[in-house]
Amino acid sequence: MAIQWFPGHMNKAKKAIADRIKSIDMVIEMLDARLPASSENPLLAQLSRGKPKLKILNKQDLADPERTALWLNEFNSREHTQALALDASEANATTKITRACRQMMPQRGGLDKPLRVLICGIPNVGKSTLINGMIGKKSAKTGNEPGITKAEQRLFLADDFWLYDTPGMLWPKIIVEQGGYNLAASGAVGRNALDEEEVALVLLDYLRRHYLPLLQERYQPDRDPSSHWDDVAWLEWVAQKRGALLGGGRVNYQKAAEAVLGDFRGGHIGRITLETPNQWAGWLKTARQK
Ligand code: G4P
Repeated sequence: MAIQWFPGHMNKAKKAIADRIKSIDMVIEMLDARLPASSENPLLAQLSRGKPKLKILNKQDLADPERTALWLNEFNSREHTQALALDASEANATTKITRACRQMMPQRGGLDKPLRVLICGIPNVGKSTLINGMIGKKSAKTGNEPGITKAEQRLFLADDFWLYDTPGMLWPKIIVEQGGYNLAASGAVGRNALDEEEVALVLLDYLRRHYLPLLQERYQPDRDPSSHWDDVAWLEWVAQKRGALLGGGRVNYQKAAEAVLGDFRGGHIGRITLETPNQWAGWLKTARQK
């Protein structure tokens, strides 16, 4: 899939993170709970090597709860890493996060040793929603302070808890092909950079294999056994149901693809996670053998 992953402004984000990383104590990485591995940034892992990490699986309200539990186990078993699942707009998100950070860094705190935390995440993961909820009435300092670049924001969550916010960042090369499709399905990649029809077909193929009952419930196929339908048959059926048709009853694949992606992004098909730890390990192995 031809995706322009790393437009110029992401180089600025990378530089801002690389500069800041030296003077922070730990990193919060926001992941999309529907694609925890695909949304994990290998560039950030490289830049922040050695720093403790809190992984937040956001949009848990849209993800498959059983799979979220698997992913939390997976991340929590890593060294210097803790994970928690959230919905960015939930009332006690700030408390959960600040508590987890303070537990991870008990040696920091107090006015002379404020806890300095960098927060990162791919575009559209929900970082602004979370931060807006966190700031509340507290001060958000941007730009024109000495030592704070225009590309970042310093937020005072408490006198001794400083949060550095950086712009959403992707990475130059996608290794796992399915991961690229999952990112695209989630809305992390700009519309102009991808072929929505291809992304919708890959998504439908995954859903028919792993979430067939949800797919059937949403689109109410008139024929059985719809389990034998392939991705194209499903897309054509969605086109029928949604009136995505051109003259002469021909299928408008683009419009049907937009309908499927919109339904997935909005959680209208159900609570779905596009990868398990085992699936991801298999895809990674295949990618490395190529
Ligand atoms: P970003 O800063 O990381 O780029 O993401 P942002 O907060 O702008 O969130 C992207 C979209 O995801 C927004 O929806 C936001 O409401 C939604 N969102 C964020 N966190 C969650 C979550 O935990 N659960 C759910 N269900 N949605 C979440 P939008 O449709 O783009 O905007 P809006 O209609 O909400 O304004």
